[in-house]
Amino acid sequence: MSTVTNDSPLSAASGAPSGAASPNGAAELAPSHEGEPNAHGYRKFSVGELHFERDEFFAHISWPTGEHLMSVDAFLRALQRDVAWNFFYGIVNFDGVFGTMNHYGTVDVFTGRYNDAYRKAELDHVETVETEAVRSVFVEMLDDWTNEGFDPFASPSETGSAFGDKHGSNTAAVTRSRVAATRMVSLPGDEQIRDDAGGHPVNRQFTDVAQDEPEVRPEPGYEGRIGGFNLAAYLSRSPVTWNPSIVSVCRDSLMCPTTEEYILPIIHGNDRAEWFVLLSDEITWDIEDRDSGAKRARVTMKAGDVSAMPADIRHQGYAPKRSMLLVWENASAELPNLIATGQVPAQPVDF
Ligand SMILES: [Fe+2]
Repeated sequence: MSTVTNDSPLSAASGAPSGAASPNGAAELAPSHEGEPNAHGYRKFSVGELHFERDEFFAHISWPTGEHLMSVDAFLRALQRDVAWNFFYGIVNFDGVFGTMNHYGTVDVFTGRYNDAYRKAELDHVETVETEAVRSVFVEMLDDWTNEGFDPFASPSETGSAFGDKHGSNTAAVTRSRVAATRMVSLPGDEQIRDDAGGHPVNRQFTDVAQDEPEVRPEPGYEGRIGGFNLAAYLSRSPVTWNPSIVSVCRDSLMCPTTEEYILPIIHGNDRAEWFVLLSDEITWDIEDRDSGAKRARVTMKAGDVSAMPADIRHQGYAPKRSMLLVWENASAELPNLIATGQVPAQPVDF
């Protein structure tokens, strides 16, 4: 199955986007939120013919040919990543039914699109929407549905509950800016290293991580062009989980380390190869076919292991203990099309 494009017959077969079409075929959204809060205090939201509502425990999603529900804590954890990563690379599956696919300018918001059973039953649905339009709906929904004390980015051991009728909010947590170095953390004018004074204490699971920093002595003329920092110390002070941050950039090569604990809240469907280097502890990955969801592999990585996720899979990770993972991304805008058209293989290496 090929990658979905804006003019894909697969999109059209699943129902044309509602609303007026823009020049590139994406839907212009109607206002995102409707009416007064429901009996539980939460507002309803819509993306075209996809409607979102929450109650005490669940996020409910409905569309003309079906309905779906997810535990609202899992839904908000996934929504938080989708918003913070601006729809990321490829597909962000919230679970086996609902998710988004990034076309870098427009986004497919879908139900059942990458689920063999829904596809065969013709119950799937896709709305193709301008990125900023769907982003504004998701940002509002995340803020309205997140209660005081719940932090969707935090490990379950480090946050309060997502459940119950609406009580307060946690806007500061859900609008955190993502670390994105332009050259490298620690260089002048770029993202800086973390310390206690900056509000980044060492995490409870990383108290044994050395906190010394390298001494950098550039030759005259190279000040500001050479640097170094203690990546383990930097990661030991991350307050969030499953949130790859860009700590160094070399053209399209992005080093995106992250700390993990519990479950990756999304099932990431790749549109390019992605390399993982496990720096500490252990993570188990469930690997499925990207388009059908069929199981393909289960990979347990231990500290020092390296793996490459191909461009035709989706994966979800399980970390029994807080661990440090280095994710290496190639940000080239040409890759999805090169892979979809067979000019570049889906797997980055043959053995
Ligand atoms: Fe991924």
